[in-house]
Amino acid sequence: MRHLRKNALVTGFGGQDATYLASWLGDNDYNVLAVARSARTFSNMQYLETRGFSFKNLTVIYGDVTDANFIYDVFKSYDIHSVYNLAAQSHVGFSFENPVHTMNVNYAGAANIINAIRMFQPSVRLYQAGTSELFGYNHGGLLDESAVLAPRSPYAISKLAAHWAIRNARHEGIFACNGILFNHESPIRGPEFVTRKISRFVAKYARGLSDETLRLGNLDARRDWGHAYDYVKAMVKMMEHGKPDDYVIASGESHSVRDFVIKAFDFLGFDVKFSGEGENETGSINGRAVVCVDPKFYRPNDVNCLTGDASKAKTILGWQPSVSFDQLVSDMVRSDIVRLKS
Ligand code: GDD
Repeated sequence: MRHLRKNALVTGFGGQDATYLASWLGDNDYNVLAVARSARTFSNMQYLETRGFSFKNLTVIYGDVTDANFIYDVFKSYDIHSVYNLAAQSHVGFSFENPVHTMNVNYAGAANIINAIRMFQPSVRLYQAGTSELFGYNHGGLLDESAVLAPRSPYAISKLAAHWAIRNARHEGIFACNGILFNHESPIRGPEFVTRKISRFVAKYARGLSDETLRLGNLDARRDWGHAYDYVKAMVKMMEHGKPDDYVIASGESHSVRDFVIKAFDFLGFDVKFSGEGENETGSINGRAVVCVDPKFYRPNDVNCLTGDASKAKTILGWQPSVSFDQLVSDMVRSDIVRLKS
């Protein structure tokens, strides 16, 4: 008997998570209907293909989640099994300058999809890309699903609205899950995020291609960084589980931005020594400053520390991260070096 593939709609295609997820789903029982805003965004897919990832069973649909009629048309045209709503304005810093746009993409997108499920295909399963930024004002320690939600940026406020829209949808009988994902990075992370900004700089420095200084904002911020490919597999586990729920996905350890810099240089044999305080802090190699603080990259409000407790996902879904912090940093730096060579 021919094996029938289920249709999974993945929004935000071209971005880091949607690209990894599309590869995983296409290899595992699904046809992927990938929603992209433009063809310009396929460089991540092309890069992953060079690293052995495949993109089978993929159909790209052009459109925008903020356009309700577009979403409704998709629901009228395809028999959908699951929706992964990964489309977002995902940069926290940018959200301070563009709060309304951020709310529109991050909340209205989710609301349009919930409406479409309600109106056209009520049995569709929905995954919503939630975030550890929801925990904003926290006092450190391990954060799980019961931790207080206290958003600290327009980005986090928009994600909180979507988070509650999902919980309410679930209450009315829709299979809807929030994945509360802590930071997750990879070689296809956008260069506007701090980890990739660092890995690209370190690769250039090591190849002797940069005599500039890496300018960063808050070096003390601590994040729980995992690998994006591990995290998209957690999304699928949530959606294939018998009961919809909300899950924290995290590695369980946090490191500061400064730690990330030190580890990235250390991976290539460079010893960075930090000295000074606040805006005057610098990181030097053999007495020459290679990293400095630029207040331009400070945020009006920053979340100081995020460390997640993924016990619930481990127990109920059987999810485990497979990539350590050291492996993540080395993968990102190594990949940026290879890309510079080619
Ligand atoms: N982007 C950036 N650039 N961040 C910097 C810089 C810099 O030059 N210097 C210091 N930082 C600090 C930020 O202030 C923040 O505290 C931390 O580095 C991480 O910043 P990002 O990499 O931009 O990620 P994020 O933690 O704000 O948000 C990411 O993770 C969230 C999950 O917790 C994004 O992927 C969000 O979309 C996601 O929800």
